[in-house]
Parts: sequence; C-alpha cells; structure tokens
Amino acid sequence: MTRPAQAGAPSNDGLRETLRLAALSAMEKAYAPYSEFRVGAALAGPGGTVFVGCNVENAAYPVGTCAERAALSAAVVGGVTSFELLVIVSEADDPTPPCGMCRQALVEFAPRLPIVSFTREGREAEWTLASLLPHPFTPAALTHHH
Ligand code: THU
Repeated sequence: MTRPAQAGAPSNDGLRETLRLAALSAMEKAYAPYSEFRVGAALAGPGGTVFVGCNVENAAYPVGTCAERAALSAAVVGGVTSFELLVIVSEADDPTPPCGMCRQALVEFAPRLPIVSFTREGREAEWTLASLLPHPFTPAALTHHH
C-alpha cells in the first residue's frame, strides 16, 4: 500500500522493511532452547546504520539476554549511541513490545524512540518508548543526588 506524503511526517516504510528483514534474520540465529521463543531486533542509527541482536539463553536461566539489548550493545561497540527506529520480530502470535529491562536500557540513549514489532507473518504494532516507559529513570537523576 502506498500513502500520500504528508508534510512533517516523512515516510520511513523503506527503513522499516529493511529493519524487519534484518530482525527476522537475527531471530533465526536466536539461541532459545529453554523458552523456544526466538526474538530478533534491529536498531537504526543515523545515516542508514543498522545493528542487530537476538536473544541468547543459558542453562542458568537468569543469565539469558534479550534481543533488544544485544542490538544496543552491538551499536554501542560500533560507536553509535543515537537511534531513530527499533524493529522487533518475535515468534509470538501477537506483536510483542520490549521487556521492562530493555525499555530502561534504551531510554538512556533514545527517550523518544519509535518501536515497531512484527509477528513472523508480518502483523505489526507500534509504540514510542516514551509511551511504554513513562517517568523513566534517566542520567539526570544522578547529577542531583548530593
Ligand atoms: N525476550 C527478548 O529477547 N526480548 C523481549 O522483549 C522479550 C523477551 C526473550 C528473553 C527470553 O530468551 C525469551 O524471549 C522468553 O522470555
């Protein structure tokens, strides 16, 4: 489907599809033998840079990590710390938002981040990080503790 361009609301359909495909490939690499719930994430930095992550579980269950934080770590080690879009693909029946820990990890860098989540079949839901994590704990809090 094509939509007319609107002033002030540039289409990011191309970026969304690029990130959806990147997140889908990442999901296929997930190591999730315990939950059997694979997740892939793709995070867009400035200038078309894309960083991906998948969930990596562990026999010691709490050691497992989420796809979203894996993508964030890949970006940071790549020198990128500002983001314009996060896309998630999971094996759930409905599009899933990032968990609370990942919301907190992301808010450090991109408080207004748009987040789109897809099922494998391509059904989608969309949020902003600010709507998913109102009243976040931010670095500003640490400058006022004396
Ligand atoms: N998981 C993610 O990777 N991202 C989320 O946003 C939610 C949960 C992973 C963690 C665990 O490996 C599996 O999904 C089931 O919770």
